[in-house]
Amino acid sequence: MAELKVLISREQIAKRIVELGADITRDFADQPVILVGVLKGSVFFMVNLLKRLKVPLAIDFFQTSSYGSSTSPGEVRIRKDLDLSIRGKDVLLIEDIVDTGYTLRTILDLLRFRGARSVRLCALLDKAAAREVDVQIDYRGFEIEKLFVVGYGLDFDERYRNLPFIAVLDSEDAPDLPSPS
Ligand code: IMP
Ligand code: MG
Repeated sequence: MAELKVLISREQIAKRIVELGADITRDFADQPVILVGVLKGSVFFMVNLLKRLKVPLAIDFFQTSSYGSSTSPGEVRIRKDLDLSIRGKDVLLIEDIVDTGYTLRTILDLLRFRGARSVRLCALLDKAAAREVDVQIDYRGFEIEKLFVVGYGLDFDERYRNLPFIAVLDSEDAPDLPSPS
């Protein structure tokens, strides 16, 4: 039976979102922005964050899937593309977690290629020790260790997204993390 250990409480998340909302509101200063959420994990974070933003905004979603990260780490497939045009627009990409960085690197490059005026990244969690490609995180919720976490949008096999906190999944079923090299 899987055991859950709370890593970041709902109160800690709520407090951090207020701070991030204030930072983003200050930096964008009435400048219109398109918030792009990366499905599905970022949805909880995005919905709570956008309620703290006092900037004119539109929202859109993007979904990718990656194949066997150990065999072809760079290969990221687009499953759902944006509905809105981002040409000449300022984009704030919202992600739940940055792990190796491959997914974000691909999405950031694509949004820039499509002519966005600026693309910034806001990620709730940063697993910095797991990074394999460099990604600049403009707004970061929390840095966490190289652990497999669930909750607040993050899943293991589509489960646990509804937990109101971030937890470490301690289970025989939990995916193996590569050992530190
Ligand atoms: P990256 O391309 O390695 O940075 O992978 C990012 C994606 O992997 C995230 O959007 C998550 O969907 C997933 N992911 C990475 N680490 C975790 C974790 O600890 N728990 C749940 N999903 C994770
Ligand atoms: Mg996932």
